[in-house]
Amino acid sequence: MDLSTPPPDLYGRPRPDRFIQRLTAFGDRYNPAMGGPLLRRSPHRAEPRPTRQIQLVVTRHESVADDVVELHLADPSGAPLPGWQPGARLLLTLPSGRERHYSLCSDPADPRHYRIAVRRIADGGGGSVEIHDELHVGARLTARRPRNGFAFCAEPAVLFLAGGIGITPLLPMAREAARLGLDWRLVHTGRTAGSMPFADELRAFDPRRVTLLTDDRDGAPTAEALLAHAPAGAAVYCCGPAPMLAAVQRALDASPARSLHFERFGAAPVLDGHSFTVRLGAGGPELPIPADRSALDVLREIRPDLPYSCHQGFCGTCRLRLLSGTPQHRDRRLTEEERAAGALLPCVSRAAEGETLVLDL
Ligand code: FES
Repeated sequence: MDLSTPPPDLYGRPRPDRFIQRLTAFGDRYNPAMGGPLLRRSPHRAEPRPTRQIQLVVTRHESVADDVVELHLADPSGAPLPGWQPGARLLLTLPSGRERHYSLCSDPADPRHYRIAVRRIADGGGGSVEIHDELHVGARLTARRPRNGFAFCAEPAVLFLAGGIGITPLLPMAREAARLGLDWRLVHTGRTAGSMPFADELRAFDPRRVTLLTDDRDGAPTAEALLAHAPAGAAVYCCGPAPMLAAVQRALDASPARSLHFERFGAAPVLDGHSFTVRLGAGGPELPIPADRSALDVLREIRPDLPYSCHQGFCGTCRLRLLSGTPQHRDRRLTEEERAAGALLPCVSRAAEGETLVLDL
């Protein structure tokens, strides 16, 4: 996201003020040790090594909402799949070689298949379009065993807040909350009813506890209105676009809720960034990296084939080799040994003002 332009509103639409932008920065700086409401970023940090690879076959490929397909993925031999908990994600390697993370939205009690739901992002990196247009029943994929960076702690009172396709990790959490008899509510927001998958499935858990808000019918909800659904002392689990998370963080203190767990889509805003330069190879062209953009975003303008997945410094997909220069590593993936050997994750890592990083490209 280019922070030189005003940030979008709760649904990612253009917005004239800069307030939410500052709140996003606040949320990313927030340290629970400072006191006040407890904010818990999904702890992706515990991902130092990839999990074991597994083979999967597509057993269902179906449209479940406007621009959303769901996939069922099973073991090719029919064997039970590795277990997982609500909030877990699967790292899929697509036939093109692209790697993408998707939240599992099936029932962890059913080991016969994994289910994911993917919204088509026409101007994204191509992963969602490949899944929509090129995958079919019978296609084989490799994946890493599910890993959880957004764990559900089953607090006695819970509010689930989903923006758009952010419903996917929250659906199995809501199922679990219903099964455990917790005091839970779920609010799913979207542009139109047709764009929101799994509405009937959610209502089947308990229709009195599920609220669907659509932009065209209800208008864009404020974070205060969303949090007003929280039972007293509730833990909030929120998954959606960055502006939605920032607004919820801002409103949490004055709400009935007590704590916040969240998972964002895509990249977080750059904080405390300085402008620096990357050079492609020892004698290659130089690219200026503005203070508010990632090196990966700038590199992809001239090398759109560069792989990436999380955009947040935890998956390792964008890894490059540094030939010279002093980087500021901001990832949560690389070990000190890997950094010392020249590994760099350009989706988040940067350099001091005026520094030049020479990359092996
Ligand atoms: S894209 Fe995941 S670490 Fe860079």
